[in-house]
Amino acid sequence: MEMFVVSGGRPLKGRVSVSGAKNAALPIMAATLLADGPVTLHNVPQLVDVATLARVLVSLGMKIHGDTSAALHFETHDDSNVTADYELVRRMRASICVLGPLLARRKRACVSLPGGCNIGHRPIDLHLKGLRAMGAEITIENGYVYAEAERLRGADIYLGGAFGSTVTGTCNIMSAAVLAEGTTRIEAAACEPEVVDLGNFLNSLGAHIQGLGTPFLTIEGVERLSGGEYRVAYDRIEAATLMIAAGLTRGVVELEQVPVADMTAVIETLTHIGLKIDQLGPLTIVDGRGLRSATDLVALPYPGIPTDVQAQMMSLMSVTPGMSVITDRVFPDRFMHASELVRMGAQIRREGPTAVVQGVEHLSGAHVMASDLRASAALVLAALAAEGETVIRRIYHLDRGYERLDDKLNSLGASIRRVDDQPVGLTTPEVPMELSKHRSSRAA
Ligand code: UD1
Repeated sequence: MEMFVVSGGRPLKGRVSVSGAKNAALPIMAATLLADGPVTLHNVPQLVDVATLARVLVSLGMKIHGDTSAALHFETHDDSNVTADYELVRRMRASICVLGPLLARRKRACVSLPGGCNIGHRPIDLHLKGLRAMGAEITIENGYVYAEAERLRGADIYLGGAFGSTVTGTCNIMSAAVLAEGTTRIEAAACEPEVVDLGNFLNSLGAHIQGLGTPFLTIEGVERLSGGEYRVAYDRIEAATLMIAAGLTRGVVELEQVPVADMTAVIETLTHIGLKIDQLGPLTIVDGRGLRSATDLVALPYPGIPTDVQAQMMSLMSVTPGMSVITDRVFPDRFMHASELVRMGAQIRREGPTAVVQGVEHLSGAHVMASDLRASAALVLAALAAEGETVIRRIYHLDRGYERLDDKLNSLGASIRRVDDQPVGLTTPEVPMELSKHRSSRAA
């Protein structure tokens, strides 16, 4: 396993480009299962999650070739397998995105239930409710979802849940509905730009989806989708992460390919706390030198502040003067990063779905542990601002969803070393003889 050793305290400066959006690329890749011909995708980020989904698709009889830096080509050559295996699905929850396309195109699907994860309870009841409404017979046995339908039928489906709508649930239902008989109307559809990107992709193959970007989707089923070519949108979460990095290091960075139109809530909040964000032609200039005031922040479904930037914002608020109250209404338990930030000197108190952050003068380097994808990013950002050296373990979480984040930050002047996971600057202390006796007698 690898870890990062970060030397903090260097203001970022320079220019980098934002990559393709992970959360758009994954459901779009899954939806290539629906196409009758070859599909070429551009701007797919080079990520562990992308490689994992590619493995799932290959196991489902797809041929994939090409290169993420240019284009990836997808074509089904054997549609007999309908099982997405636990061994692959357990590595990445988004594998559930193959459920809708498989069912619609191959009439049957058997997909391992993704299980829980570190950001909280993550059920798929809304996905299943939607598919059942369209006539699918669904059972759950031995940890797998078995779904069957000779031909799905259009239906009226309400997709709202206790925590808002569901992003991958909307992707699944929308992907299934494009080949269903008749019209599907989804209410409380997720409005996230990544759902819109999937919808635009499906429409480019001949689907009839209206209302993208609103909670009301109307999908007229068609007999078949063709092959085609599509460019995945840029990643608003990565863009926000880089903006926050500029704020934390009091740096000035120029970002290319920022999907600013999808980032109003984030940009407004960052501006409110003192960042200067300007558009200069295709460049977004982020000046983080004026960080001044704490703010309250609530993570909400789009167009609110994304839950996927809540952790990074917490790092920023940790060194912003004043008291900030951060609430996550999408994943109310998504605060694993808080205790690691506290190890770096942050003052954070958790109260239910809320964290109260009192800004401190500076953070200090420490040994910390990444618990999930966005929490890893939050720790990397905090480390950039901290005095001294920070060691971040379990960075494989970061590689799942950020394309070369360490290289990008280093190109802006950061000092992040990727090394094998060994104790750094520490020799393992000898355990005193009495203590080891004590431990072994307790163990016995
Ligand atoms: C997607 C994103 C993830 C992001 C999340 C919220 C991908 C690959 N992942 O995850 O990065 O953090 O959206 O923006 O796009 N829920 C239910 N029942 C369901 C489904 C969800 O109660 O059937 C709840 C969840 O527990 C959560 C909320 O709804 O509280 C939102 O979850 P959802 O939008 O489904 O997240 P994902 O699609 O898994």
